[in-house]
Amino acid sequence: MIDQGRAFAPVYERIYPPGEPTARFCAARHPGGGHPSLELGAGTGRVALPLAGHVGEVIAVELAPEMVEQLRAAPKPSQGEVSPVEADMTTYEPDRTFGLVLCVCSTIGLVHDRGVQQRLVATWARALAPGGALVIENHNPAAIEELHEGRTRQTAIFPYPQPNRSLLTHGVLDRDNELWTATHVFFDQGTPWTATEVVRLTGPDRVDAYAKQAGLECVERYADVEGSPFTGNEPMFVSVYQHA
Ligand SMILES: C[S@@+](CC[C@H](N)C(=O)[O-])C[C@H]1O[C@@H](n2cnc3c(N)ncnc32)[C@H](O)[C@@H]1O
Repeated sequence: MIDQGRAFAPVYERIYPPGEPTARFCAARHPGGGHPSLELGAGTGRVALPLAGHVGEVIAVELAPEMVEQLRAAPKPSQGEVSPVEADMTTYEPDRTFGLVLCVCSTIGLVHDRGVQQRLVATWARALAPGGALVIENHNPAAIEELHEGRTRQTAIFPYPQPNRSLLTHGVLDRDNELWTATHVFFDQGTPWTATEVVRLTGPDRVDAYAKQAGLECVERYADVEGSPFTGNEPMFVSVYQHA
């Protein structure tokens, strides 16, 4: 994977919207009973921090030291607690059980190896407490295909409601290997930032197959954390899994 920490940390919280809606969505799937929650690829705590306010303790696993540093420096939630763990989620072995395990904001696609993706979902399934839920949010490959309009290379601009802020993305789609290389240029008040990420295209059906193999079933799926229906072409999908 690319060094997302160095590339994205300075602009991260301006590129992505606040994490409270995702935190609320996840918190509503926590079974209660005082179980902690586990976020893999927690970044700056955009979601983990508000989630802790809803459900108590959140273990936040993050690879990039720059992201962990920002998370440690962030104001503490008024309730609950976030415990940052600087670790690679592909080798991180949870030693507790969790009411909620989440891997959101297209983080599973940053793991390129299908075997490792499968193993991760199995690890997360084993870490669920009774009644616990696994929440996975990812890019929808069908929407990336649509964005490319049949081309290998495509450039798109995503405006923001804030003045003088927009994201210019140049994508290269490797259909044979199901890889999407996206170079982003983020313009904000005249200060551009640029970063490249490579994602392994991982759609809802594929995650369902990993989950099934791990003894989980998909109990809910939406196009976003507001609960909009997923019909197949929306940019993102959010799936919720529980033990079958
Ligand atoms: C798109 S960001 C999402 C961050 C956070 N989940 C959110 O919603 O704001 C993906 C994060 O996953 C981290 N990451 C990527 N690969 C990782 C790995 N193998 N182990 C742990 N973290 C990883 C990146 O450094 C980055 O902070």
